[in-house]
Amino acid sequence: MTTELVTGISELTTNDPERGGLLGRVKNAAVVIDGDTIAWVGPAADAPAADTRTDLGGRALLPGWVDSHTHLIFSGDRSEEFEYRMAGNAYQAGGIRTTVRATTEASDEQLRAGLAARRRTAQRNGTTWMEVKTGYGLDVAQETRLARLAAEVTSDVTFLGAHVVPPDTHADDYVALVVGDMLAAVLPYVAWIDVFCERGAFDPDQSRTVLEAGRAAGLGLRVHGNQLGEGDGVRLAVELGAASVDHCNHLGPRDIEALGSGGTVATLLPACDLSTREPFPPARALLDAGATIALASNGNPGTSNTTSMAFCVATAVLQMHLTIEEAIWAATAGGARALRRDGGDSPIGAIIPGHRADLHAIDAPSVSHFAYRPGMDLTYDVWARGRRSSTSPSP
Ligand code: NIG
Repeated sequence: MTTELVTGISELTTNDPERGGLLGRVKNAAVVIDGDTIAWVGPAADAPAADTRTDLGGRALLPGWVDSHTHLIFSGDRSEEFEYRMAGNAYQAGGIRTTVRATTEASDEQLRAGLAARRRTAQRNGTTWMEVKTGYGLDVAQETRLARLAAEVTSDVTFLGAHVVPPDTHADDYVALVVGDMLAAVLPYVAWIDVFCERGAFDPDQSRTVLEAGRAAGLGLRVHGNQLGEGDGVRLAVELGAASVDHCNHLGPRDIEALGSGGTVATLLPACDLSTREPFPPARALLDAGATIALASNGNPGTSNTTSMAFCVATAVLQMHLTIEEAIWAATAGGARALRRDGGDSPIGAIIPGHRADLHAIDAPSVSHFAYRPGMDLTYDVWARGRRSSTSPSP
Protein backbone atom coordinates (compact mmCIF):
# COMPACT_ATOMS: atom_id res chain seq x y z
CA MET A 1 0.00 0.00 0.00
CA THR A 2 1.39 3.45 -0.93
CA THR A 3 1.67 6.07 1.82
CA GLU A 4 1.21 9.81 1.24
CA LEU A 5 2.46 12.58 3.54
CA VAL A 6 0.37 15.76 3.38
CA THR A 7 2.19 18.85 4.69
CA GLY A 8 1.83 22.63 4.45
CA ILE A 9 -1.41 22.47 6.48
CA SER A 10 -1.96 25.86 8.14
CA GLU A 11 -4.86 24.52 10.23
CA LEU A 12 -5.97 20.91 10.51
CA THR A 13 -9.51 20.19 11.74
CA THR A 14 -9.35 16.70 13.22
CA ASN A 15 -12.66 16.48 15.17
CA ASP A 16 -10.54 14.56 17.67
CA PRO A 17 -11.86 15.29 21.18
CA GLU A 18 -8.43 14.53 22.63
CA ARG A 19 -6.86 17.49 20.81
CA GLY A 20 -8.97 20.16 22.55
CA GLY A 21 -11.86 22.34 21.45
CA LEU A 22 -14.81 20.97 19.52
CA LEU A 23 -12.81 20.64 16.28
CA GLY A 24 -9.46 19.52 17.72
CA ARG A 25 -7.66 22.03 15.46
CA VAL A 26 -3.87 21.68 15.01
CA LYS A 27 -1.70 24.45 13.51
CA ASN A 28 1.20 23.64 11.11
CA ALA A 29 0.10 20.04 10.90
CA ALA A 30 0.79 16.99 8.75
CA VAL A 31 -1.22 13.86 7.93
CA VAL A 32 -0.12 10.48 6.60
CA ILE A 33 -2.55 8.46 4.47
CA ASP A 34 -1.95 4.74 4.04
CA GLY A 35 -4.09 3.45 1.17
CA ASP A 36 -7.63 4.40 2.08
CA THR A 37 -7.01 5.09 5.77
CA ILE A 38 -5.54 7.86 7.95
CA ALA A 39 -2.31 6.47 9.41
CA TRP A 40 -0.79 9.40 11.32
CA VAL A 41 -1.77 12.94 12.42
CA GLY A 42 0.33 15.54 14.25
CA PRO A 43 2.61 18.58 14.10
CA ALA A 44 4.54 18.80 10.79
CA ALA A 45 7.84 18.88 12.68
CA ASP A 46 7.22 15.30 13.92
CA ALA A 47 5.92 13.81 10.65
CA PRO A 48 7.26 10.40 9.60
CA ALA A 49 8.52 9.71 6.05
CA ALA A 50 6.14 8.39 3.38
CA ASP A 51 6.29 7.20 -0.25
CA THR A 52 4.89 10.46 -1.70
CA ARG A 53 4.46 13.98 -0.43
CA THR A 54 1.83 16.67 -1.09
CA ASP A 55 2.45 20.24 0.09
CA LEU A 56 -0.74 22.27 0.61
CA GLY A 57 1.24 25.52 0.81
CA GLY A 58 -0.39 26.90 3.95
CA ARG A 59 -3.99 25.87 3.38
CA ALA A 60 -6.54 24.43 5.81
CA LEU A 61 -7.48 20.74 5.78
CA LEU A 62 -10.67 19.31 7.26
CA PRO A 63 -12.68 16.07 6.99
CA GLY A 64 -14.80 15.70 3.85
CA TRP A 65 -18.42 16.78 4.33
CA VAL A 66 -20.78 13.98 5.38
CA ASP A 67 -24.12 14.75 3.73
CA SER A 68 -26.56 12.62 5.72
CA HIS A 69 -29.83 13.68 4.03
CA THR A 70 -30.33 13.77 0.24
CA HIS A 71 -33.02 12.83 -2.26
CA LEU A 72 -30.63 12.91 -5.22
CA ILE A 73 -32.14 10.17 -7.38
CA PHE A 74 -34.81 11.97 -9.38
CA SER A 75 -35.65 13.46 -12.74
CA GLY A 76 -37.33 16.73 -13.67
CA ASP A 77 -37.39 20.37 -12.67
CA ARG A 78 -39.63 22.29 -10.24
CA SER A 79 -38.42 25.82 -10.79
CA GLU A 80 -41.97 26.96 -11.56
CA GLU A 81 -43.13 25.71 -8.17
CA PHE A 82 -40.14 27.46 -6.60
CA GLU A 83 -41.00 30.74 -8.33
CA TYR A 84 -44.62 30.41 -7.14
CA ARG A 85 -43.34 29.90 -3.59
CA MET A 86 -41.03 32.88 -3.78
CA ALA A 87 -44.08 34.92 -4.77
CA GLY A 88 -45.46 34.25 -1.30
CA ASN A 89 -47.15 30.82 -1.49
CA ALA A 90 -46.47 28.08 1.04
CA TYR A 91 -44.63 24.82 0.33
CA GLN A 92 -46.94 21.82 0.09
CA ALA A 93 -45.87 18.18 0.26
CA GLY A 94 -48.01 17.48 -2.83
CA GLY A 95 -45.26 18.93 -5.08
CA ILE A 96 -43.46 15.62 -4.55
CA ARG A 97 -45.92 14.01 -7.00
CA THR A 98 -44.59 16.20 -9.83
CA THR A 99 -41.15 14.67 -9.36
CA VAL A 100 -42.67 11.19 -9.08
CA ARG A 101 -44.17 11.60 -12.57
CA ALA A 102 -40.90 12.81 -14.13
CA THR A 103 -38.84 10.16 -12.34
CA THR A 104 -41.16 7.34 -13.38
CA GLU A 105 -40.82 8.41 -17.03
CA ALA A 106 -36.99 8.47 -16.93
CA SER A 107 -34.89 5.48 -18.00
CA ASP A 108 -32.38 3.79 -15.69
CA GLU A 109 -29.59 5.40 -17.73
CA GLN A 110 -31.05 8.88 -17.31
CA LEU A 111 -31.48 8.42 -13.56
CA ARG A 112 -28.00 6.95 -13.20
CA ALA A 113 -26.44 9.83 -15.15
CA GLY A 114 -28.34 12.47 -13.15
CA LEU A 115 -27.30 10.96 -9.84
CA ALA A 116 -23.67 10.61 -10.98
CA ALA A 117 -23.53 14.25 -12.10
CA ARG A 118 -24.96 15.52 -8.79
CA ARG A 119 -22.58 13.34 -6.85
CA ARG A 120 -19.59 14.57 -8.89
CA THR A 121 -20.56 18.18 -8.21
CA ALA A 122 -20.93 17.42 -4.51
CA GLN A 123 -17.51 15.78 -4.37
CA ARG A 124 -15.86 18.66 -6.21
CA ASN A 125 -17.22 20.79 -3.38
CA GLY A 126 -15.86 18.59 -0.61
CA THR A 127 -18.57 16.00 0.03
CA THR A 128 -16.99 12.57 0.47
CA TRP A 129 -19.97 10.62 1.83
CA MET A 130 -23.67 10.90 1.12
CA GLU A 131 -26.89 9.18 2.04
CA VAL A 132 -29.50 8.90 -0.76
CA LYS A 133 -33.24 8.37 -0.23
CA THR A 134 -35.81 6.76 -2.49
CA GLY A 135 -39.27 8.34 -2.41
CA TYR A 136 -39.95 9.52 -5.96
CA GLY A 137 -41.29 6.11 -7.08
CA LEU A 138 -44.24 5.33 -4.78
CA ASP A 139 -44.96 1.90 -6.25
CA VAL A 140 -43.16 -1.38 -5.78
CA ALA A 141 -41.32 -1.47 -9.10
CA GLN A 142 -40.30 2.20 -9.10
CA GLU A 143 -39.17 2.32 -5.47
CA THR A 144 -37.13 -0.84 -6.00
CA ARG A 145 -35.53 0.65 -9.12
CA LEU A 146 -34.57 3.83 -7.22
CA ALA A 147 -33.15 1.80 -4.33
CA ARG A 148 -31.13 -0.38 -6.73
CA LEU A 149 -29.68 2.61 -8.60
CA ALA A 150 -28.90 4.52 -5.39
CA ALA A 151 -27.12 1.45 -4.00
CA GLU A 152 -24.68 1.69 -6.91
CA VAL A 153 -23.21 4.86 -5.33
CA THR A 154 -23.66 4.56 -1.56
CA SER A 155 -24.21 1.98 1.15
CA ASP A 156 -26.45 4.48 2.97
CA VAL A 157 -29.61 4.09 0.91
CA THR A 158 -32.81 5.02 2.74
CA PHE A 159 -36.21 3.59 1.79
CA LEU A 160 -38.69 6.50 1.77
CA GLY A 161 -41.68 4.80 0.17
CA ALA A 162 -43.71 6.68 2.82
CA HIS A 163 -42.89 10.06 1.28
CA VAL A 164 -46.43 11.01 0.27
CA VAL A 165 -49.61 9.08 -0.54
CA PRO A 166 -50.00 8.58 -4.32
CA PRO A 167 -53.09 10.10 -5.99
CA ASP A 168 -56.36 8.14 -5.85
CA THR A 169 -55.03 5.88 -3.11
CA HIS A 170 -56.29 5.49 0.43
CA ALA A 171 -53.52 6.30 2.91
CA ASP A 172 -53.99 3.13 4.97
CA ASP A 173 -53.92 0.94 1.84
CA TYR A 174 -50.72 2.65 0.75
CA VAL A 175 -49.09 2.15 4.18
CA ALA A 176 -49.98 -1.56 3.95
CA LEU A 177 -48.22 -1.72 0.57
CA VAL A 178 -45.17 0.15 1.92
CA VAL A 179 -44.71 -2.21 4.87
CA GLY A 180 -45.61 -5.28 2.80
CA ASP A 181 -44.52 -5.90 -0.80
CA MET A 182 -42.57 -2.66 -1.18
CA LEU A 183 -40.41 -3.17 1.89
CA ALA A 184 -39.71 -6.78 0.91
CA ALA A 185 -38.66 -5.72 -2.60
CA VAL A 186 -36.31 -2.87 -1.60
CA LEU A 187 -34.74 -4.71 1.33
CA PRO A 188 -31.65 -6.03 -0.54
CA TYR A 189 -30.62 -2.45 -1.41
CA VAL A 190 -31.37 -0.35 1.67
CA ALA A 191 -29.92 0.23 5.15
CA TRP A 192 -32.52 2.67 6.49
CA ILE A 193 -36.25 3.35 6.50
CA ASP A 194 -37.72 6.86 6.69
CA VAL A 195 -41.21 8.39 6.84
CA PHE A 196 -42.50 11.92 6.23
CA CYS A 197 -44.50 12.35 9.46
CA GLU A 198 -46.40 15.54 8.72
CA ARG A 199 -49.85 16.89 8.00
CA GLY A 200 -50.40 16.25 4.27
CA ALA A 201 -48.17 13.16 4.36
CA PHE A 202 -48.37 10.44 7.07
CA ASP A 203 -49.98 10.75 10.51
CA PRO A 204 -48.26 9.50 13.70
CA ASP A 205 -49.98 6.08 13.70
CA GLN A 206 -49.13 5.45 10.06
CA SER A 207 -45.57 6.67 10.67
CA ARG A 208 -45.18 4.31 13.62
CA THR A 209 -46.42 1.40 11.50
CA VAL A 210 -43.82 2.17 8.82
CA LEU A 211 -40.94 2.58 11.27
CA GLU A 212 -41.78 -0.54 13.28
CA ALA A 213 -41.99 -2.62 10.10
CA GLY A 214 -38.61 -1.30 8.97
CA ARG A 215 -37.07 -2.05 12.33
CA ALA A 216 -38.49 -5.59 12.30
CA ALA A 217 -36.87 -6.06 8.88
CA GLY A 218 -33.48 -5.03 10.31
CA LEU A 219 -33.32 -1.44 9.02
CA GLY A 220 -32.15 1.63 10.95
CA LEU A 221 -34.73 4.38 11.45
CA ARG A 222 -34.82 7.98 10.18
CA VAL A 223 -37.76 10.42 10.32
CA HIS A 224 -38.79 13.59 8.46
CA GLY A 225 -40.37 15.47 11.35
CA ASN A 226 -41.69 18.87 12.44
CA GLN A 227 -40.91 20.52 9.10
CA LEU A 228 -44.19 22.29 8.39
CA GLY A 229 -45.75 22.36 11.85
CA GLU A 230 -45.41 21.09 15.41
CA GLY A 231 -46.32 17.41 15.10
CA ASP A 232 -45.31 14.09 16.63
CA GLY A 233 -42.34 13.33 14.37
CA VAL A 234 -39.61 14.24 16.83
CA ARG A 235 -41.16 12.45 19.79
CA LEU A 236 -41.83 9.34 17.72
CA ALA A 237 -38.26 9.33 16.42
CA VAL A 238 -36.79 9.60 19.91
CA GLU A 239 -39.18 7.01 21.36
CA LEU A 240 -38.33 4.46 18.65
CA GLY A 241 -34.58 5.16 18.84
CA ALA A 242 -34.25 6.60 15.32
CA ALA A 243 -30.70 7.54 14.34
CA SER A 244 -31.90 10.93 13.16
CA VAL A 245 -34.93 13.19 12.90
CA ASP A 246 -34.60 15.67 10.09
CA HIS A 247 -35.92 19.23 9.56
CA CYS A 248 -37.00 20.11 13.17
CA ASN A 249 -38.26 23.59 12.23
CA HIS A 250 -41.22 23.62 14.61
CA LEU A 251 -40.20 22.34 18.03
CA GLY A 252 -41.93 22.76 21.36
CA PRO A 253 -40.15 22.51 24.75
CA ARG A 254 -40.95 18.77 25.00
CA ASP A 255 -39.36 18.11 21.60
CA ILE A 256 -36.21 19.99 22.58
CA GLU A 257 -36.04 18.15 25.87
CA ALA A 258 -36.52 14.78 24.15
CA LEU A 259 -33.73 15.51 21.65
CA GLY A 260 -31.48 16.74 24.46
CA SER A 261 -31.76 13.55 26.45
CA GLY A 262 -32.13 10.89 23.71
CA GLY A 263 -29.63 9.47 21.23
CA THR A 264 -31.46 10.73 18.13
CA VAL A 265 -29.50 13.31 16.11
CA ALA A 266 -31.37 16.48 15.07
CA THR A 267 -30.46 16.96 11.41
CA LEU A 268 -30.95 20.55 10.28
CA LEU A 269 -31.35 21.51 6.62
CA PRO A 270 -30.71 25.26 6.25
CA ALA A 271 -30.84 25.40 2.44
CA CYS A 272 -34.33 23.87 2.57
CA ASP A 273 -35.44 26.36 5.22
CA LEU A 274 -34.46 29.25 2.95
CA SER A 275 -36.13 27.70 -0.08
CA THR A 276 -39.40 26.99 1.76
CA ARG A 277 -39.28 30.11 3.94
CA GLU A 278 -39.86 28.03 7.04
CA PRO A 279 -38.52 29.45 10.31
CA PHE A 280 -35.04 28.14 11.11
CA PRO A 281 -34.90 25.39 13.75
CA PRO A 282 -34.01 26.53 17.29
CA ALA A 283 -30.42 25.34 16.92
CA ARG A 284 -29.07 27.20 19.95
CA ALA A 285 -31.80 25.83 22.23
CA LEU A 286 -31.11 22.31 20.93
CA LEU A 287 -27.40 22.58 21.67
CA ASP A 288 -28.05 24.10 25.10
CA ALA A 289 -30.37 21.15 25.87
CA GLY A 290 -27.54 18.72 24.99
CA ALA A 291 -28.80 17.57 21.57
CA THR A 292 -26.44 16.44 18.81
CA ILE A 293 -26.88 18.40 15.59
CA ALA A 294 -26.00 17.42 12.02
CA LEU A 295 -26.18 19.71 8.99
CA ALA A 296 -27.14 18.26 5.60
CA SER A 297 -28.02 19.56 2.14
CA ASN A 298 -31.40 17.83 1.62
CA GLY A 299 -30.53 17.96 -2.10
CA ASN A 300 -33.82 17.48 -4.00
CA PRO A 301 -35.67 19.21 -6.84
CA GLY A 302 -38.50 20.55 -4.67
CA THR A 303 -37.33 22.15 -1.46
CA SER A 304 -33.53 22.33 -1.64
CA ASN A 305 -31.96 22.08 -5.07
CA THR A 306 -28.33 22.15 -3.96
CA THR A 307 -25.61 19.80 -2.78
CA SER A 308 -23.48 22.61 -1.33
CA MET A 309 -22.57 21.77 2.25
CA ALA A 310 -20.44 24.95 2.35
CA PHE A 311 -23.63 26.96 1.74
CA CYS A 312 -25.36 25.07 4.56
CA VAL A 313 -22.45 25.75 6.93
CA ALA A 314 -22.39 29.47 6.08
CA THR A 315 -26.17 29.74 6.54
CA ALA A 316 -26.06 27.86 9.84
CA VAL A 317 -23.48 30.33 11.15
CA LEU A 318 -24.89 33.54 9.69
CA GLN A 319 -28.60 32.84 10.15
CA MET A 320 -29.02 30.07 12.73
CA HIS A 321 -26.37 31.46 15.08
CA LEU A 322 -24.16 28.40 15.31
CA THR A 323 -20.49 29.10 15.98
CA ILE A 324 -18.01 28.26 13.21
CA GLU A 325 -16.87 25.24 15.22
CA GLU A 326 -20.41 23.96 15.82
CA ALA A 327 -21.35 24.26 12.14
CA ILE A 328 -18.20 22.57 10.80
CA TRP A 329 -18.56 19.75 13.34
CA ALA A 330 -22.25 19.28 12.47
CA ALA A 331 -21.47 18.99 8.73
CA THR A 332 -18.71 16.41 9.26
CA ALA A 333 -18.73 14.47 12.55
CA GLY A 334 -22.44 15.27 13.09
CA GLY A 335 -23.36 13.76 9.72
CA ALA A 336 -21.28 10.70 10.55
CA ARG A 337 -23.12 10.35 13.88
CA ALA A 338 -26.50 10.73 12.14
CA LEU A 339 -25.55 7.79 9.89
CA ARG A 340 -24.00 5.86 12.78
CA ARG A 341 -20.67 5.89 10.93
CA ASP A 342 -18.63 7.63 13.61
CA GLY A 343 -17.46 4.24 14.89
CA GLY A 344 -17.08 0.69 13.64
CA ASP A 345 -14.68 -0.69 11.05
CA SER A 346 -14.13 2.31 8.81
CA PRO A 347 -15.35 5.42 10.62
CA ILE A 348 -15.80 8.73 8.79
CA GLY A 349 -16.17 12.39 9.74
CA ALA A 350 -12.84 12.90 11.52
CA ILE A 351 -9.12 12.96 10.72
CA ILE A 352 -7.92 10.44 13.27
CA PRO A 353 -5.71 7.39 12.64
CA GLY A 354 -7.91 4.45 11.60
CA HIS A 355 -10.58 6.65 10.02
CA ARG A 356 -11.32 6.53 6.31
CA ALA A 357 -9.08 9.00 4.46
CA ASP A 358 -11.79 11.47 3.40
CA LEU A 359 -10.19 14.91 3.33
CA HIS A 360 -11.06 18.37 2.07
CA ALA A 361 -8.36 21.01 1.49
CA ILE A 362 -9.50 24.61 1.05
CA ASP A 363 -7.84 27.61 -0.51
CA ALA A 364 -7.93 29.51 2.79
CA PRO A 365 -5.93 29.38 6.02
CA SER A 366 -8.85 28.49 8.31
CA VAL A 367 -12.33 26.94 8.29
CA SER A 368 -13.74 30.27 9.49
CA HIS A 369 -13.58 31.34 5.81
CA PHE A 370 -16.68 29.23 5.03
CA ALA A 371 -18.79 31.90 6.79
CA TYR A 372 -16.36 34.82 6.55
CA ARG A 373 -16.42 34.57 2.74
CA PRO A 374 -19.83 32.94 2.14
CA GLY A 375 -20.62 31.69 -1.33
CA MET A 376 -16.97 31.58 -2.42
CA ASP A 377 -15.69 28.38 -4.00
CA LEU A 378 -13.07 27.46 -1.42
CA THR A 379 -12.37 23.83 -2.33
CA TYR A 380 -8.74 23.25 -3.32
CA ASP A 381 -8.55 19.46 -3.35
CA VAL A 382 -10.48 16.45 -2.08
CA TRP A 383 -9.40 12.93 -1.06
CA ALA A 384 -12.14 10.30 -1.00
CA ARG A 385 -11.06 7.00 0.50
CA GLY A 386 -7.44 8.11 0.15
CA ARG A 387 -7.75 8.96 -3.56
CA ARG A 388 -6.99 12.56 -4.36
CA SER A 389 -9.42 13.97 -6.93
CA SER A 390 -6.79 16.04 -8.74
CA THR A 391 -4.81 12.87 -9.36
CA SER A 392 -7.57 10.30 -9.81
CA PRO A 393 -10.65 10.03 -12.00
CA SER A 394 -13.98 11.10 -10.47
CA PRO A 395 -16.07 8.19 -9.21
O1 NIG B 1 -37.04 16.75 2.78
N1 NIG B 1 -40.12 16.82 3.25
C1 NIG B 1 -40.17 15.91 2.49
N2 NIG B 1 -39.30 15.62 1.52
C2 NIG B 1 -38.41 16.57 0.90
C3 NIG B 1 -39.12 17.39 -0.09
C4 NIG B 1 -39.24 16.69 -1.36
C5 NIG B 1 -39.94 17.45 -2.44
O2 NIG B 1 -40.68 18.43 -2.22
O3 NIG B 1 -39.72 16.98 -3.55
C6 NIG B 1 -37.73 17.38 1.97
O4 NIG B 1 -37.81 18.62 1.99
